[in-house]
Order: sequence, then structure tokens, then C-alpha cells
Amino acid sequence: MDPILDVQNLSIRYGGAPKPAVRDVSFTLGHERLGIVGESGSGKSTVGRAIMRLLDTATITADRMQFEDVDLLAATEAQMLKIRGKRMSMILQDPKFSLNPIQRCGHQISEAYRTHMKCSKAEAKARAIEMLEQVHIRDPERVYDLYPHEVSGGMGQRVMIAMMLLTSPDLVIADEPTSALDVTVRLQVLQILDGLVRDKGIGLIMISHDLNLVRAFCDRVLIMYAGRLVETLDAKDLDNARHPYTRGLLAAQPRIGGSRAPLPVLEREASWVNPQEAV
Ligand SMILES: Nc1ncnc2c1ncn2[C@@H]1O[C@H](COP(=O)(O)OP(=O)(O)OP(=O)(O)O)[C@@H](O)[C@H]1O
Ligand SMILES: [Mg+2]
Repeated sequence: MDPILDVQNLSIRYGGAPKPAVRDVSFTLGHERLGIVGESGSGKSTVGRAIMRLLDTATITADRMQFEDVDLLAATEAQMLKIRGKRMSMILQDPKFSLNPIQRCGHQISEAYRTHMKCSKAEAKARAIEMLEQVHIRDPERVYDLYPHEVSGGMGQRVMIAMMLLTSPDLVIADEPTSALDVTVRLQVLQILDGLVRDKGIGLIMISHDLNLVRAFCDRVLIMYAGRLVETLDAKDLDNARHPYTRGLLAAQPRIGGSRAPLPVLEREASWVNPQEAV
């Protein structure tokens, strides 16, 4: 089966930046859960935003960046407006910054839906309420009429997810979707995303710096370091990672019942950034 997304040699340089934020990143995404892990600043969100074509100030080069039948390198902004939020969606970390504070939650969902789907307001509302139910919001009719500041962080995140999923996208990029949530809500959100991959066959990119979460939740994992992809692994093989950066990350994870000696500090080497200089 053709991949949902095919990215070959993607490099991204922000305007005015001395070096590219992302260099020569290649991967494909099928109907699976693909994790992107790496420390802060390694370029994970930049890759996600480039796929959504949300980087106005950056220069993007790639040999190929294909989403289904869409060439993302050549698509016009008018084409992207039809695709973004409909066939591909991005879930961000913090609902506080993603929801409009002066519009009721439910209205935002139905407006987003009506941007892409021709239907009456009443129909959009019914679909939005149905979707709120699907993301386990208990009293969806009431929540529909609440403003974002009247819902909890976890509820706000599920409102966001409902909005992003209502159009049944084929590709969902979740950028740290659960780091602002407490553990129980986090599990619920992961279950919702998991259900989408299983039942609707979407492709999910899960950006995170939480190795344990990615190990448990994803099928495959890309490890990024300083803008490069240093390793691609099946999630189940994460413990057998070969790259010294990945090994260092794993060694720095605390374990319940593990040794109480201080955790090792990751020793970085210049060759990880410039593989040509290795050896
Ligand atoms: N809008 C921007 N303009 C200029 N540079 C940027 C911009 N956004 C990110 N960068 C730079 O690009 C690099 C990659 O940032 P990015 O946000 O992709 O990292 P990340 O892996 O998502 O980190 P985090 O885990 O903290 O979210 C960083 O060096 C960052 O400073
Ligand atoms: Mg980020």
C-alpha cells in the first residue's frame, strides 16, 4: 500500500538563522503510529509544521514531500487551505493557546467543520456534539456552550482533538498532545488517538520527548538530534537502540526499583551533529 506521507531529505532553515533547524530528514508514514522523539530544540515541531506548511518564515527544501496525491512542495496556499484542517490536522500541546478565548468551545468546533464541509449550522452542531461525546466529554451539550476558560485543561485538549478529528483527516500530527494533562486524562487522550489509527486507519505522527510514552504507544520511532534523524526503530526495539544519543537517553531514564545511584549525564560528541566528521 502507498504511504500516506513520504518525506525525503527535508531541510528547513528559519529566516535569519545561521544553520538549518532540520537537515536531511527522510521517513515514510503508513497507517501507523510513528513517534518522533528528541530533546528540546532538536527540530521535531519544525518537521510537523513543515508538513502542515505552516512555516512562512522558513526555507523548506526536500527531494520529495508527498501527502497522498498532494505534492506538499508544490501545493499553493489555496490548495493547502482546503487540505489543512480537513485531510491533515495538527493537535498542539496547550489548548490555552489553540482555542479562541472569546468563542464558545462548541461554536469553534462547528465553525471549523463548516469551513470544510457544506452543511447547515444545526447539522454542524449535531456533529460537534457527537464528536465531543466520542472524546469522552460527559455532558457535551453543556460543554458546547462553555468558553475555553470555563473548561479544565484536559477538557480543553479534548475539545481541540474533537475539532481536529471531526473532518476525519487521514493524517494527524500530535505535537506533545498530552504533556499538559494529568495521567488519567492522558491515557484517555491516547486511547482516542489509538482508536483512530485502529478503526479509521489514519496515519499518526506523535511528537514527544517522553521515551516511555512513545515506546508504549507507537509502532515506530524516529530519533532526532540537532535537526537530524539519527535513528529509526521499531518501538519494541527501542531498548536495543544503537546510536549513542538514543542509548544515552535511555540510560538517563529513571526506573522504579532501579539503582539509586545518580543517573548518568548524556555526554555529547561533535560527530553526532556532523556524521562526516565521525571516526
Ligand atoms: N519560528 C522560528 N523562528 C526561528 N527559529 C525557530 C523558530 N521555531 C523554532 N526555531 C528553532 O528551530 C530549532 C528547532 O525547534 P523546534 O521547535 O522544532 O524544536 P522541538 O524539537 O520541537 O523542541 P521542543 O521539544 O522544545 O518543542 C530550534 O533551534 C529553535 O530555536
Ligand atoms: Mg516542539
